[in-house]
Amino acid sequence: MEAPRRILYVEDNPTNFRLVERLLRDDGYEVIHAKDGFEGVRKAVEERSCLELILLDINLPGMDGYEAATKLKALPGLDQIPIVAVTVNTLKGDRKRSLAAGCDGYIPKPIDVHTFPRRVEEYIQGRRDQIHASDERYYLREHARRLVDRLESSRDQLRLTHEQIQHKDKLASLGEMAAGIAHELRNPLSSISFAIEMLLRREADQVGDTKHLDLIHRNVERIQRLADGLTSFARPSDACLSAVDVAKALDDSVLVTQHEFRQRNIRLHHQQGRPHLPPVWANEGLLQHAFVNLLRNAAQAVSARREQNPDATGEVHVAAEAATGDHVAVTIRDSGIGIRPDYQDRLFTPFFTTKPRGEGTGLGLYIVKQVIDEIGGQIDVHSRMGRGTTFRLLLPRAAAERSAVR
Ligand SMILES: Nc1ncnc2c1ncn2[C@@H]1O[C@H](COP(=O)(O)OP(=O)(O)OP(=O)(O)O)[C@@H](O)[C@H]1O
Ligand SMILES: [Mg+2]
Repeated sequence: MEAPRRILYVEDNPTNFRLVERLLRDDGYEVIHAKDGFEGVRKAVEERSCLELILLDINLPGMDGYEAATKLKALPGLDQIPIVAVTVNTLKGDRKRSLAAGCDGYIPKPIDVHTFPRRVEEYIQGRRDQIHASDERYYLREHARRLVDRLESSRDQLRLTHEQIQHKDKLASLGEMAAGIAHELRNPLSSISFAIEMLLRREADQVGDTKHLDLIHRNVERIQRLADGLTSFARPSDACLSAVDVAKALDDSVLVTQHEFRQRNIRLHHQQGRPHLPPVWANEGLLQHAFVNLLRNAAQAVSARREQNPDATGEVHVAAEAATGDHVAVTIRDSGIGIRPDYQDRLFTPFFTTKPRGEGTGLGLYIVKQVIDEIGGQIDVHSRMGRGTTFRLLLPRAAAERSAVR
C-alpha cells in the first residue's frame, strides 16, 4: 500500500483545520494538526521524513507563525519542506513579511475552496513565491527587531519567575528557622520546669539551695538569647563568638539533662570541671545547645536499646581533651541502639528522625551541625548497631589574641 502523503497544518482554530482537512483528504492527503507554534515545530521534526508541506497560520498563541517559519527553516531535514502561510491579511505587507521570515508561499484567508487544493499542489510541485531583494531586507530587519523584543520580554519574564522562586525559598527557610527555634526553646523550657519542680520539693522540705535558682536564671537567659537570635536573623549572621570554657559548658549541659538520665536509669560518666582545658572560640549558649542535643539523643538511644533488650547496659560517657591541630575534642559515647549505616549520611539533614511522630522533630543534629560549622569545627560519628554510638566534636581553640578582642 502506498504511504499516505502528509501535510502538517499549524492552526489554533479547529473549524479552519477541519475545513482544510476535508478539502485535502479528497485529494489523498493526510492532514496532521498542531495547535500552536511549539507543537508545530515538534510535530514537523517527528514527521519530517514523510511531510510534503507545512501550512502555517500566522496569528498563533505563544510562538507566532513568523517565528515558527524561521525556526522550521533552520532545522536540519526541514529546510527542503515548503512552508505556506495561510492567514487573514490583517496588516499591510503580511505576504512579504511571511516570505522574509522563511515561508515559501502565501494563501490568504478566507480560503477559496475551489482553488485551495490546486494552490497547495503547486507548492508541493515546487512553486516558490518571490520577494524583491529590497523588500526582503526591510522585512528581515523588522523580523529581527521583533525577535529581539520577544527575547527581551522572555528574559524579563524569566527574571520575574526567578525572583518569585527566590521569594518562595526565603519563605521556606524562614519556616525551617522558626521550627528550629521552637525546637531550641523546648530544651531550656524543660530545664526550667524541672528546676521549678525541684524548688517546689525543696520548699516543701524547707531546704535553702540556690543551685536550681541559678539553673532557672541561666535558662531564662538562653530563651532571651534565642528570641534575640530570631530578630537578628534578618541581619547577616553576627553570632557573638568568644573564648568559651568547654568544661563549664559541658558541666552546665550535664546539669540540664541529668534528670533525664536519672529517670531513664542511665549512668552518666562525666568528670566535673577540667581546669587544664584550653578555651575554644564559640558562642557559649549555642555550644551548650549542641551538647544538650547530643546528650538527649544519647539518653534516648540507650532507652531504645533497653526496649529491645532490658538487660543491656545503660551508659553514657562524656569526655573532653586537648587535641592536636589547635582543637579541643569533646566525645559523647553511648551504649545505645546504634545508627543504621544507611541512615548515617542523613543524620544532619533537617527533619530526619526515626522517632515516633510527636517525639522527635529531627532538628537536633541539624542544629548541632550548624553550630559546629559556624565556628569552623568538625563532627565525626562512629556507630555500631546494637552496640552504641560515639559523636566526636573537634572545636577550634581560642587563640590568645582572639580572646582579647571581645
Ligand atoms: N546517639 C544516637 N544513637 C542512635 N541514633 C541516633 C543518635 N543520635 C541521633 N540518632 C538518630 O538520628 C536521628 C536524628 O537525630 P536528631 O537529634 O536530629 O532528631 P531527633 O532526636 O529524632 O528529634 P529531636 O532532636 O528534634 O527531638 C534520630 O531520630 C536517631 O534516629
Ligand atoms: Mg535529637
